[in-house]
Amino acid sequence: MKVAPSIMAADFSKLSEEIKSLTALGADIIHLDVMDAHFVPNLTFGPVVIEGIRKLTELPLDAHLMITDPDKYLEDYINAGCDMISFHLETVQNPIDIIQRGQEMGVKMGIAINPPTPVEKAIPYIERIDYILVMSVNPGFYGQKFIPETLGKVEYLRKHYRELTIEMDGGINGENAPLLKKAGVDIVVSGAYFFHSRDRKKALTLLRG
Ligand code: DX5
Ligand code: ZN
Repeated sequence: MKVAPSIMAADFSKLSEEIKSLTALGADIIHLDVMDAHFVPNLTFGPVVIEGIRKLTELPLDAHLMITDPDKYLEDYINAGCDMISFHLETVQNPIDIIQRGQEMGVKMGIAINPPTPVEKAIPYIERIDYILVMSVNPGFYGQKFIPETLGKVEYLRKHYRELTIEMDGGINGENAPLLKKAGVDIVVSGAYFFHSRDRKKALTLLRG
């Protein structure tokens, strides 16, 4: 599996070093958790910080928008240099419209589904999206415990949509990564496990499953 470290768990006092080290360690993607203290009870960063990160790395930037109005701010994230953008289905009235707008501007678009959201809700959009982000914790904080029941959604999606790119996010570590791989995940996000590891190189290898 590809690994996307979530910089929310990085050391922000030396963010530049943290970002630059990811290429040398062999990370595939950088996962950016955008929180607005409204859709989720936590606040992180927005397009200005992402624009700065863009200057530090060639790795694809994957923005996970946990904000109430992604429709309104989509262009800001694209202009900041994101390569992949996911939004939560609950936050938009017309998902096809935002998916299309992003894709026309050259960005891969994904939809995120929370643990209580049934996978059926995503089905009407599957043919249109570039990837699906299956949440394995309730969004808002890093360092939460993996919810194993969410793997059933991955198994279902892999069975019915062989070509779909599936990203999983929340509570992933070296121990549960093989289960994700078996279920059919393509990209794993990791915050606490990766950034708080003493040996990040080893953590990255184990996260591949
Ligand atoms: C949770 C975020 C995750 C989180 C991952 O709301 O979407 O991306 O930062 O961190 P861990 O791997 O610690 O759960
Ligand atoms: Zn995330």
